[in-house]
Amino acid sequence: MNREIRTAVVTGGGHGIGRALCRRLHDDGIAVIVVDIDEKAAHAVASAIGGHAFTVDVGDEAAMADLIDAVERDIAPVDLFVSNAGVGYGDGAEGAASKEGGLHETEDRWESCWRVNVMAHVYAARSLVPRMIGRGGGFLVNIASAAGLLSQIGDAAYSATKHAAVAFADSLAITHGEQGINVSVVCPQAVATRMIGIEDDSDSKEGGFGGNDVDGVLSAAEVADRIVKGIREQEFLILPHPQVETYVRRKASDHDRWIAGMQRFRRKLLS
Ligand SMILES: NC(=O)c1ccc[n+]([C@@H]2O[C@H](COP(=O)([O-])OP(=O)(O)OC[C@H]3O[C@@H](n4cnc5c(N)ncnc54)[C@H](O)[C@@H]3O)[C@@H](O)[C@H]2O)c1
Repeated sequence: MNREIRTAVVTGGGHGIGRALCRRLHDDGIAVIVVDIDEKAAHAVASAIGGHAFTVDVGDEAAMADLIDAVERDIAPVDLFVSNAGVGYGDGAEGAASKEGGLHETEDRWESCWRVNVMAHVYAARSLVPRMIGRGGGFLVNIASAAGLLSQIGDAAYSATKHAAVAFADSLAITHGEQGINVSVVCPQAVATRMIGIEDDSDSKEGGFGGNDVDGVLSAAEVADRIVKGIREQEFLILPHPQVETYVRRKASDHDRWIAGMQRFRRKLLS
């Protein structure tokens, strides 16, 4: 792993991809700060790897600023910040523009997705970019999704906010890349975590799928390996599922045809 990275913060580190990433970074000798809204999960991961745990809602700007102040004051300068925490609720009964999400009917899923999937990345950058530039550079890694390049059928708020996350990463790299800020954005398709309804996110391909047979599902550990390789090679766009590049090229070359194909695919999923 890059010698310049000694301390890393991973949001959403209590479960899934974030947890796998905490373990992977720890294996590379990096001090890891595990951040999650789920206090118990954050502490469990931190104690297993000898790291620090913080309970934070990443969609709260003041809490994010306090987190970064506390880490830099009491632990060490943040060399790598991974904005991994994310939410998706599925479209409600009214479809793409609905307020409620299928799984969280009392929540305005649009508001929640904007805060967690986009603004949390902005809050991290606001606090860290000036500090990192002041000490010669740093790494910001934002976990978006293939839905941020293509679309997630049945989740408009997730798709729109993940597109925004990709666009924000573009802007960060364009504006601050030449000032030593190494930006990466990660766009996976399905990963075996609770987010796609797999309750046992133990990283075991044998035991972790709970009967789910979605094609091309990667384990969180495989995705963490791919992310670390991408960071080491200073890749901007990290695609754990390489086929996403082909799909993006097809979409860009004929958008109308791509929409028609997605409509057919949606009809098939609903039948
Ligand atoms: N699983 C997939 O198929 C998949 C595919 C593409 C992208 N992603 C993205 O990967 C990232 C990680 O997702 P995952 O699959 O590991 O899901 P997960 O649900 O297993 O983990 C998400 C973690 O984020 C935490 N979290 C949620 N809201 C938070 C908040 N407001 N503040 C702090 N922590 C919060 C959760 O407690 C949880 O620990 C997300 O950004 C997700 O959108 C996942």
